Amino acid sequence: MAEAAATGEGTLKRTLGPMALVALGIGAIIGAGLFVRTAAAIADRAGPSVTLAFIVAGIGCAFAGLCYAEFASMIPVAGSAYTYSYATMGELSAWIIGWDLVLEYAVGAATVAIAWSEYFNRVLEWFGMRIPYEWSHSPLEAMQGTGVHGIINIPAIAILFALTALLIRGTQESAVVNSIIVIIKVSIVLMVIAIGWGFINPANHTPLIPRPMAYTTPQGITHSYGGLMGILGAAGVVFFAYIGFDAVSTAAQEARNPKRDMPIGILGSLVVCTVLYVLFSYVLSGVATVEDFRTAGREASVAFAITKYMPGFEWLSKSVTVAILAGFSSVILVMLLGQSRVFYSMSHDGLVSKIFSDVHPRFRTPYKSNMLFFVFTALFAAFIPEDIVGEMTSIGTLFAFILVCAGVWIMRVRRPDLTRGFTVPALPFVAIMGIIVCGAMIRTRVDQLAAARGLARDRLDAVFFLRDQTQPAARRRSGGGAVI
Ligand code: ALA
Repeated sequence: MAEAAATGEGTLKRTLGPMALVALGIGAIIGAGLFVRTAAAIADRAGPSVTLAFIVAGIGCAFAGLCYAEFASMIPVAGSAYTYSYATMGELSAWIIGWDLVLEYAVGAATVAIAWSEYFNRVLEWFGMRIPYEWSHSPLEAMQGTGVHGIINIPAIAILFALTALLIRGTQESAVVNSIIVIIKVSIVLMVIAIGWGFINPANHTPLIPRPMAYTTPQGITHSYGGLMGILGAAGVVFFAYIGFDAVSTAAQEARNPKRDMPIGILGSLVVCTVLYVLFSYVLSGVATVEDFRTAGREASVAFAITKYMPGFEWLSKSVTVAILAGFSSVILVMLLGQSRVFYSMSHDGLVSKIFSDVHPRFRTPYKSNMLFFVFTALFAAFIPEDIVGEMTSIGTLFAFILVCAGVWIMRVRRPDLTRGFTVPALPFVAIMGIIVCGAMIRTRVDQLAAARGLARDRLDAVFFLRDQTQPAARRRSGGGAVI
């Protein structure tokens, strides 16, 4: 706390008020999860009961969010779950959770940068341009039936670079850009809800919970579809859409009045996004059919549904694509911010190199940390496919949520005397429920990660095979392809 009270050169600058913190949360929350995963959850798992899946995932996050809010108001220091674990469970747990948060923030930023690259190409197509497949995909991806495979994802690297530069320039500047993006993306989400509501076909919502059955995706992965298992599986899929509200707590040391404003930032952004998600998924699953999401509409589900079922609203379809691109940028921005702040705290505590807490003399941002994480995230985004990094992000985040739920309970027992700006109601019930729900969601994600790894192995074999065909016969026989 004394460390957090320090001001002046070499420390982070306190510039963020309650609205900027709520905006920071929404900036990190609404992104690929809503715009891409909702369609996948409808198609593969839940049909129209995706709305219930958003409610289930939202309840799981609310338990964790309450615990984050108490911690952030009690220990308003940069570093989030890492700092809380340090205070409650000691150095080893803190070190583990610090590295775990790399999965959430750095790998999360890489995941969304890959999705950004996909949508960037879509916008370029409006102007008759396109970055070739090879230069906008990882080497583990291949265009079906063409033999073309990725080499490196350059647009993903470019957006990570641009946003790192903005973060180095200043937290307040980054918060302003984030707030502008939040206004754009929330307005478009509201427009889709308001206009789309009139195009809901009640037949698409009947029955709201489909009959349980098994469904095999085009990639060959079989899931439970419909019924309760479908809803729970879909909750695991759309959980990614909620990741980010906790990122607010990483910026506690840059909040003007953290004891009061941290809970507002964390819980406020979570509530706003939950309401938007439930309404948005209700509209989307009502406008288009499950079959649409399984086939043609899979990739650009929202734009597709508008174009096909909402005649006269082509402008909305285009605006959605722009909002998605902007929205992805703010998610990446806040994730990168969160990552550098976690390592800033770890470095202060001597658990990682001092480089990570070197603050820029003029901009007062941890610039070396920002640059190192640019390199790390760029390597992931350039060379790994989205499904694998996406699952790693969800698992890492859920693990952090579990530790924060446990930590808040431990702290309440050990130090009931500490002043808290916000206290979790009904503890330990909330903490126990948070641990159970997040644990259940980890279970579904681990299965999915295993399936994604299986797919990646197949893709690797395909790349092997394709490259091997390009080698001279003698080299092929001598195993030249094994270079890969
Ligand atoms: N919640 C963020 C997203 O959906 C990570 O992109």
